[in-house]
Amino acid sequence: MREKYGIDAPGVVRTFAALGVVLTVVSGFVYALANAWWAYVIATVLLLTALTLLTQSLWMVYSSLVGKRRVWERALADLPLRGDERVIEVGPGRGAVLVTAARRIPSGRLAGVDIWRPQDQSGNGREALLANARAAGVADRVDAHDGDMRQLPFPDNDFDLALASLAIHNLPPADRAGAVTELARVVRPGGHIVILDFEATAGYADALRAAGASDVRVSGLHWSMHPPTRVVTAEASRPSRTAS
Ligand SMILES: C[S@@+](CC[C@H](N)C(=O)[O-])C[C@H]1O[C@@H](n2cnc3c(N)ncnc32)[C@H](O)[C@@H]1O
Repeated sequence: MREKYGIDAPGVVRTFAALGVVLTVVSGFVYALANAWWAYVIATVLLLTALTLLTQSLWMVYSSLVGKRRVWERALADLPLRGDERVIEVGPGRGAVLVTAARRIPSGRLAGVDIWRPQDQSGNGREALLANARAAGVADRVDAHDGDMRQLPFPDNDFDLALASLAIHNLPPADRAGAVTELARVVRPGGHIVILDFEATAGYADALRAAGASDVRVSGLHWSMHPPTRVVTAEASRPSRTAS
């Protein structure tokens, strides 16, 4: 069986594509019937809007299937990994990122915690994640948990690495900093936190600093994804040394 990871925000992709097709047809009719300069202007505006919508829907499909995994492969390659880390991803969906991490961390143990919302990813579900883990040959090291990222069912310092990909922006703005703090809570001192998203990344960085994380960095924009994303990385707080 092949791995299949689905499309992010499928409703938005479908709406952009459908509107793009409808506006292309309407602009064709307006061009055909136009007999004044302003009618040509309207047809041209309709056509440009249609092309913009179609381009965005195709770019979002590329982002889900190719761009996202490339950005994550680079982000994981930049981490100082031993290869046996315990990893959590909040909102893993069908597992594109969790399975990429499992491949890069060959003796690691990985947990995904999700509420599996169908509007966030096509075919979303814990079974889809486990099927992809089986197809990738990493199912013995991947666990799927039903749960909300705002209240993770794990003790403090339980993981070496925490990941979130296009997940935290789904929360109401007032809840996002709390979810970032929760991520930092479950990572051991000296472990790492990596968050990819297309909005609110400066706020995630602030929440990580407030949680005591160090070396907090926000990347430039990654244009292979749509909307373009940034990656926030941090090291979880180490216990402060007290003078003896
Ligand atoms: C756009 S999908 C991204 C999936 C995956 N991280 C990836 O990049 O392929 C967002 C995911 O966040 C999950 N999610 C949304 N709100 C959540 C919450 N409060 N707690 C846990 N997961 C949540 C959704 O169910 C969905 O699986």
